Amino acid sequence: MQVAVLLHNIAHPLGLQLSEMLQARLPCPKPKLIAFDQAEELLARGRMSMLVVVLSPFPDRALNLLRKIRLQTAGPVLAVGQASDSKLILRALHEGADHYLDEADLEKQLGSVLQRLQIKEEASRQPAGQVIGLLGASGGSGASTLAVNLAGVLARQLGRCALIDLKPGIGDLAALLDVKPTHNLADLCLNCGRMDQAMFESALAPHASGIHLLAPPLTYEDIRLVTAQGVGKTLHLARETFRFTVVDLEDCYHEEQLVVLRQAELILLVLRLDFTSLRSTKRILANLEQAGIGNERVQLVINRYGQAKELPLAQAEETLGRKIAFFIPDDPKIINAANNAGEPAVFRSPSAKVSQSIVQMANALVNPEDAKPSSVRQAVKSVNGWLAVFHS
Ligand SMILES: Nc1ncnc2c1ncn2[C@@H]1O[C@H](COP(=O)(O)OP(=O)(O)O)[C@@H](O)[C@H]1O
Ligand SMILES: [Mg+2]
Repeated sequence: MQVAVLLHNIAHPLGLQLSEMLQARLPCPKPKLIAFDQAEELLARGRMSMLVVVLSPFPDRALNLLRKIRLQTAGPVLAVGQASDSKLILRALHEGADHYLDEADLEKQLGSVLQRLQIKEEASRQPAGQVIGLLGASGGSGASTLAVNLAGVLARQLGRCALIDLKPGIGDLAALLDVKPTHNLADLCLNCGRMDQAMFESALAPHASGIHLLAPPLTYEDIRLVTAQGVGKTLHLARETFRFTVVDLEDCYHEEQLVVLRQAELILLVLRLDFTSLRSTKRILANLEQAGIGNERVQLVINRYGQAKELPLAQAEETLGRKIAFFIPDDPKIINAANNAGEPAVFRSPSAKVSQSIVQMANALVNPEDAKPSSVRQAVKSVNGWLAVFHS
């Protein structure tokens, strides 16, 4: 990837600033700073993957150039200028800029535009694998327990399955599988620019079942290395390598979590039938909607189903305005024993009802037609886009 920054005078302070910011955020060599009067000639010689045009201090000249060079680039063109002049912004967009960035707020604006571009690019060349995110309505919902068991069933059925623990600092999937990862997500994020298939695979901790676990960083310094961009690239490589990638998510508002939520074919929102869990579920559904993540990709899973004094199902569905898709029974004896031993219940106690209900849920995801309506609600078979995707 090669990026060029076009500006009236390459000594303009915005040039250096942009060059450093772009280099820090993109997997590219140092961006080329090109003066307006050399731009046409230099761009004709080699294609750039992205152009940034600085409008100040001579916006007319810059827009003139933008019109001429726009067709020479297949990649995105960003215009940087003052935000106070709305006519200038419109003209820049009209001449072919894909995004307009306020020069007074570059750091923030560049970050969000690059992230949007990255997501768009990844979506357009999305490899075959599917991503299933698990999000607990609140801590203790059992999302991690379901994540390891679901990944275990998929790994056994398909030979292998990726499992990403996206809970920096607090993830416990390695303990639930009794594996000792030597690398983690922070190593990948730190080397994001040169991350490839081999590096991605070497960061995974293999489990006898065929699960390949990507552990989270656990130390303060390493946690801070996790970036949305690193997670996006990791997910892309996971899709290229595995038919299914299961992700244990932490929340629905940190950027690195949103990367997964935006891309996942299916989000399993795990809750219990109690007041606090329902309240939190409602809030999460609204927040996801606000983040542009359509609720049609979200399926609700009641975990620990059948506990004494839990709320009636009908009341829960009415409160949430949605049907529940899956029910996993409460079975502390089986689940605690499995979790404490570091062996997923679906392997340790395969005939237990709780294990079988997880297997049924996994089957419904892989083969929706075979789903038994008794434990897998009819709602799942409705015309949800993700089912078609899963079955293709
Ligand atoms: N179906 C279940 N039946 C009984 N106990 C469960 C079940 N699922 C999870 N648990 C227990 O609930 C607790 C929280 O589970 P965990 O998977 O760590 O939740 P989360 O990741 O959502 O915080 C653990 O003690 C676990 O053993
Ligand atoms: Mg957990």
